[in-house]
Amino acid sequence: MEASGLGFRYGEVELFQNLDFALHEREIRVVLGPSGSGKTTLLHLLAGLLALQAGDVRWLGQSIGDLSEEQLARQRLYFTGLVFQHHYLQAELTALENILVPGYLANQVDPAWGLELLNRVGLLDRAHLFPKALSGGERQRIAVARALYNRPKLLLADEPTGSLDRRNAEKVLGLMLSLAQEIGTAVIVATHDEHLVQGLPELRLA
Ligand SMILES: Nc1ncnc2c1ncn2[C@@H]1O[C@H](COP(=O)(O)OP(=O)(O)OP(=O)(O)O)[C@@H](O)[C@H]1O
Ligand SMILES: [Mg+2]
Repeated sequence: MEASGLGFRYGEVELFQNLDFALHEREIRVVLGPSGSGKTTLLHLLAGLLALQAGDVRWLGQSIGDLSEEQLARQRLYFTGLVFQHHYLQAELTALENILVPGYLANQVDPAWGLELLNRVGLLDRAHLFPKALSGGERQRIAVARALYNRPKLLLADEPTGSLDRRNAEKVLGLMLSLAQEIGTAVIVATHDEHLVQGLPELRLA
């Protein structure tokens, strides 16, 4: 993924301008900045969920601004995985079924891979429970497994541990990064929690 000359403003308010950075396979970048600095806005631009104003975003060399809505949605399904602060699991689906959702969308349903992911996030024994029966940390681990199901090139995580206590935050972040490494997925994680991500390469918004 490459971003060049990326800028964004809401009316008079300029969030950032001229951002240039590239992420290669398996690289990790932490987006740091105080509340309101534009972390979520940046991730939405990189995911093609928000129209570009200035600059360009390329996925595997392809400018996403050149894609139709339909092409973009299709590409996003394979290229990106998304994790948010809130888990956004489907309440009426079990843990395993939630993980398989991207597979249904991509016509690649592989329950064995779903179970393998469940195992990797330590929740094999929770496969048939519904989200309401899971703890906050468990739900986020399911959300991480779901985001990685299609083996995306890029995982975008926006405050993925924002609603967890320290111990669970460290556990979920650690699992997310190691699982992404294994699958070959680059990760961009936005957070305001500098301690949690100490030592990881960063991109700072003012
Ligand atoms: N639709 C919108 N219209 C106008 N201003 C907006 C809109 N969406 C966001 N903003 C403003 O843009 C700024 C950046 O928002 P953004 O959500 O990207 O920040 P953030 O760094 O993710 O903050 P937080 O850490 O609180 O999640 C904020 O000041 C916000 O009020
Ligand atoms: Mg945000």
